[in-house]
Amino acid sequence: MSPRVITLESEIDWPGFRREARTLLASLVPPDEVVWQTPGHPAPELWQAEAPPSPVAGSAPMRRLGGSGPSRLVVPPAFITLCEKVVLHQDPQRFALLYRLLWRLVHERGLRQDPLDPDRLRARQMLQSVRRDLHKMKAFVRFRPVGQPEGEPPLSVAWFEPEHHIVEAVVPFFVRRFTQMHWAILTPECSVRWMPAPANSPPLAGEDALPGELEFGPGASKEQAPAPDQGEALWLTYYAHIFNPARLKLSMMAKEMPRKYWANLPEAQLIAPLAAQASERTTRMVQAVPAAPRRRIPARAPLPPVDSMHDPEASLAALAKSADRCRDCPLGEHATQVVFGEGALQPPLMLVGEQPGDQEDLAGQPFVGPAGRLLDRALQELGWPRDALYLTNAVKHFKFELRGTRRIHKSPGQREVLACQQWLEREVALVRPKAFVALGATAARALVGRAVPVMSERGQWLTGPAGLPVLITLHPSALLRGDPAEKDSAWRAWLDDLALASRYIRGEEEGALSQPRAEA
Ligand code: URA
Repeated sequence: MSPRVITLESEIDWPGFRREARTLLASLVPPDEVVWQTPGHPAPELWQAEAPPSPVAGSAPMRRLGGSGPSRLVVPPAFITLCEKVVLHQDPQRFALLYRLLWRLVHERGLRQDPLDPDRLRARQMLQSVRRDLHKMKAFVRFRPVGQPEGEPPLSVAWFEPEHHIVEAVVPFFVRRFTQMHWAILTPECSVRWMPAPANSPPLAGEDALPGELEFGPGASKEQAPAPDQGEALWLTYYAHIFNPARLKLSMMAKEMPRKYWANLPEAQLIAPLAAQASERTTRMVQAVPAAPRRRIPARAPLPPVDSMHDPEASLAALAKSADRCRDCPLGEHATQVVFGEGALQPPLMLVGEQPGDQEDLAGQPFVGPAGRLLDRALQELGWPRDALYLTNAVKHFKFELRGTRRIHKSPGQREVLACQQWLEREVALVRPKAFVALGATAARALVGRAVPVMSERGQWLTGPAGLPVLITLHPSALLRGDPAEKDSAWRAWLDDLALASRYIRGEEEGALSQPRAEA
C-alpha cells in the first residue's frame, strides 16, 4: 500500500504537524503508512506520484475512532514541549519520529514507563541538541556595525551558522536583548532584521505588539556578513586581558564553546596563542611577589581630625559615608552597607551595642531587628524616649556566616573591634553624650578599653571615653537567647541594670557621676 504523503508548509511547521498528526491518528493511520515532507525535504518522487491525497485535503476516507480506539487525544504536556523543540531539529525524519511516538503513546500503554525506548531516547537526544543550539546561538552571536547611508540608523549585522532550524525560535531573545538596536542576523537558511520603532512612536497597542519591525528574508552567505572593525580590536584586547592562564582548561572550554563555532567568534583566534603562553605565565604568577589586593571601592578620604569638625550633624553624615567605604577590616566588603548610629546630639545617654544584625544591615539603621525591638520595650518601660537618646554599635558593619541563603550573625573579633574604634571615637566626640550604656561585652571592651566580664560587672559604672561613666549590662540578644524558664527574672534584672542610668535621663547626672558603684 502506498504511504500517505503529508506536506508541511515549512521546516518548522509545528501547527501544521499538530493538525495533520491529530487527523491521522483519529483516522487510525499507522506511522509506517505516512511520509512527511517539507519544502527542504520532499518525499521521494515515487511516492509523490502514487500517494493518495492527505487526509486533511478531504478526499481520503477517514476512519473515525471507534469504541476500541481513543476518542480524545490526551498526551502528557511534556510531550508537547518535546515536540515543539524536536520540530526544530535538522533531521528530516523528525516528523516521522514524532508521529510514531504519538501513535505509540496512544496505542502502547507501556511506552510511558519505558524511558529507554529507542524512539524516546532519540527524541530526547534531538531535544537536547536543539536546546544546545539555541543556547549557543544566544551566546555566540557577535554583531558588527556596518556603514549605513546618511540619515539611516546604524545597523549591526551578525553571521551565525545554527545546526538546526532555530532562527525563528531564538529571535524573540534578540529582540528583547537588543530592542533599541537596529540589527540583522544572517544564517545560511534565513536572515532576520530588526528595526526598532522611533523614539517618538505612539504607545504599543496590544500585549503582543512589538516595539519595532521584524522582517525575515532568505538565507545568506558568510561573505555578505561584515568584516572585523575597530570595536572588535578593543574586544580582543579586553578578552586577552581577562584571560586567566592559571585557570585554563582547554577541554572545558571546548565543551562550553565547541570548535565548530570558533570560525565565527573573533576571540577564538586568541585561544591558541594564549593557551601556548599559559604555563609560562602561570609559573611567573606563582613566583611573583604577592601584591596587595586592589580595593573594590575607591579608597576613602583621610579622616578629618576631631577638633576640625564643627558642624556635628554634617560631620556625622560625612563620617558615616567614610565608614561605609572603610576596608580596614574585611567586614565592609561583605556587608550591605555601614550602619552608623542615630539619635539625638548631646543626649543624656549613648547606648552602644555590638554590631548591626541582619535586619540592621539591610535597613542601614541600628537596633531595628529582634534585639532592637526588645530594647525598645525596655526603653518604654523605663520611660526613656528613644529619640532623646543616641543608639550605636562598637562595630559598624554586619559580620555573618552564610548558611545556605541565611546570614547567621558572627561575633566580631578583636581585630574588627579595634579597626572600628576610630569611628566610635569620632562619633562620641561629635555626639557628646553625658554617659554610656554598654550593651554586652564587645561594647564594654570598646568603651572601657579592656575586657569586661559582663556577668560579674553588670550594673556597675566604669570609666569610658573622655572619663565619662559607662554602665555595664547585658546585650538584649542575651535575653532573647536565655533560658525561657528564667525569662521574667532576666528581664527584671536587666531593667534594674538599665534603671541605674535613669538619673541621666532625668538630668541628675552630677550625682551619678560622683557616686559610681565600682571602679573609678
Ligand atoms: N545588635 C546590636 O548590637 N546592634 C544592633 O544594631 C542590632 C543588634
